Amino acid sequence: MKKPDRYATGRTAQLDLDGKILHLPIIEGSEGERAIDIRSLRADSGFITLDSGYTNTGSCFSEITYLDGEQGILNYRGYDIKELAERCTFVEVAYLLLHSSLPTREELDHFRHLLGQYALIHEDMIHFFDHFPPNATPMSILSSMVNVLCNFYPEMGEDPLQDIDVTSARLISKIRTIASFSYKKSMGHPLVYPKADLSYCGNFLNMMFDSPVRPYVVRPEVVVTLNKLLILHADHEQNCSTSTVRIVGSAGVNLYASISAGINALWGPLHGGANEAVIKMLETIHKDKDNLKKYIAKAKDRNDPFRLSGFGHRVYKTYDPRALILKEACDETLKVLNVNDPLLDIAREIEEIALNDQYFIERNLYPNVDFYSGIIYRAIGIPTNMFTVMFALGRLPGWIAHWKEMQEDPMRRIGRPRQIYIGPRRRPFVPIDQRSP
Ligand code: ACO
Repeated sequence: MKKPDRYATGRTAQLDLDGKILHLPIIEGSEGERAIDIRSLRADSGFITLDSGYTNTGSCFSEITYLDGEQGILNYRGYDIKELAERCTFVEVAYLLLHSSLPTREELDHFRHLLGQYALIHEDMIHFFDHFPPNATPMSILSSMVNVLCNFYPEMGEDPLQDIDVTSARLISKIRTIASFSYKKSMGHPLVYPKADLSYCGNFLNMMFDSPVRPYVVRPEVVVTLNKLLILHADHEQNCSTSTVRIVGSAGVNLYASISAGINALWGPLHGGANEAVIKMLETIHKDKDNLKKYIAKAKDRNDPFRLSGFGHRVYKTYDPRALILKEACDETLKVLNVNDPLLDIAREIEEIALNDQYFIERNLYPNVDFYSGIIYRAIGIPTNMFTVMFALGRLPGWIAHWKEMQEDPMRRIGRPRQIYIGPRRRPFVPIDQRSP
């Protein structure tokens, strides 16, 4: 990572605290994002800042992803997401995120070779699947199994970055096997092992859908769609799950445990779990069209906690660029696969209503990445309870890239926010028989 001093502008912001003037350095990122550096604020003044939900807080310097929520720009390592989604495979983008540059042919071949080499999981791990209850949630299975990997592959020693390239490839390859095995186990069907002659996405589809009674034919169009989906989910700077991976990793815990924590953060319906919530919402509206008006009214009612799933974003105040690409991909995929999904018509109707409704306009609420992705997953046969697992598969290279960047950062410190305590002030202890109810 380039030295952060490079981003000091030489300008300062003045803060008047009870007559004491503090000069806080102003820094500027490579795309012009400005920040007031408050790292010495408490030491110099005794004050801390309060920023619930971290709306205004930059937690690190990062060279991985640039995102401009006002203009709808998303770049990985400087490359426009649209171009990457159109012209790359997921494996190339994973390499880009991990290694800072797009791979040459030789580098890509080597990376693919590693992914192939590490595709199997230890046979003893397979017994674990047998002991989850039949209706176990795939996200909990995924996070548990990823956590367990550190017992089967414990070679990450004292140095967290030792063999990081191998560990990254191992994790990216194995998560796909774990995800498809958890699906097969939930169906009670025999496991399908990875094959050397299939691509990363082709292999995943085959492991999910091949069966002794109905052999699966990997369709190139579906592989293209899956690559696009995974690329669009591959990183999104300091979102909830990535920040979780960083904060857990900052305590010195191993990569597998940090990623497992990120998977759990992703699970939430306000984050990656929204793709599942969108489909459930669309299905309810499909059962009874009256629910459309009801849901829009509920979403607008400030006394009702209900939110339109797949709408709104902390950072985007315009159309999420990923959702734009996925909306197009959704039309194309359904056409190619000859699928007529009534949920797509409902989704389009919701979007039309919301984009013309003052409530959504005033709050800049647009479809986000989760709004159309579920309809594509349905079309290619992925069950609803696996949608967030698919998100995790895509996000994994981003999580690893952030974990690695944090470990390499010479300024790394354990993540530890402060708080404003508002509980009772110190009071005398009351012995148990003198306490009143
Ligand atoms: N439906 C209805 N109203 C909404 C929605 C929504 N989906 N999203 C935000 N709002 C409203 C809020 O009620 C609030 O209104 P108010 O100003 O009258 O109080 C206003 O818009 C601002 O919302 P915040 O809660 O301040 O937005 P925040 O940045 O904290 O939350 C979030 C972002 C969590 C994504 C939110 O928009 C949401 O809950 N969306 C639905 C869930 C979802 O789709 N999550 C996936 C996000 S993408 C991802 O994580 C991969």
